[in-house]
Amino acid sequence: MSRGKFITFEGCDGCGKSTQLRLLSEYLTKKGVPHIFTREPGGGKISEAIREILLNGKNAEMTDECEALLYAAARAQHLRDKVEPALANGKLVVCDRYVDSSFAYQAFARGLGFEFIEKINAFALENYLPDCTVFFDLTPEEAFQRKHGADENDRLEQAGMEFHKKVYAGYKRLAEKYPERIVCINARQTPEEIAKQVIDVLKKKKCL
Ligand code: TYD
Repeated sequence: MSRGKFITFEGCDGCGKSTQLRLLSEYLTKKGVPHIFTREPGGGKISEAIREILLNGKNAEMTDECEALLYAAARAQHLRDKVEPALANGKLVVCDRYVDSSFAYQAFARGLGFEFIEKINAFALENYLPDCTVFFDLTPEEAFQRKHGADENDRLEQAGMEFHKKVYAGYKRLAEKYPERIVCINARQTPEEIAKQVIDVLKKKKCL
């Protein structure tokens, strides 16, 4: 059996990723493609427990370093618990966020620097990268307008507009740095138009 392909979805909070995950799931089910959907931080017992610590609005005193290490720890567990076994079984794995989120949020927006995030994730993941990453290109201003403001219980969403603008700029830098792997899709179109482009991209990248 050949190994499955690993796809990740990325973008600012509220960029429409969840809708696209649902539409892709409907397509894959209809076509009978063996697949799993998962998410970061989370996707398993231990990584979901780490997610709760990370996103809990009451944990305001968490340091940036602790935050970065917890995302990497959750990722190490999730990769081995869920992603690797599914790929080994020939399944397509679609993951809502992965290491590019740590580059955009922790390296660029928190200002911890690319090298530090690369180093801790290289240790956690052994440099395991997706076959294709889809970046849903929507500015945080547009995204928050769509969802009528930030979620007051979500620590990351509460970080403020300046932070989220840096996240967006970080993603744009990453897309320039890894043009072979990261594909940008204009997320200002209708959900159906975006879904069609996602499928076209995945076919072009030989992931479907
Ligand atoms: P979630 O509610 O899943 O957000 P979304 O639906 O927008 O994906 O929360 C995940 C949050 O964690 C989101 O604000 C992005 C952030 N995050 C990081 O800061 N670093 C990371 O490495 C990952 C995976 C997520």
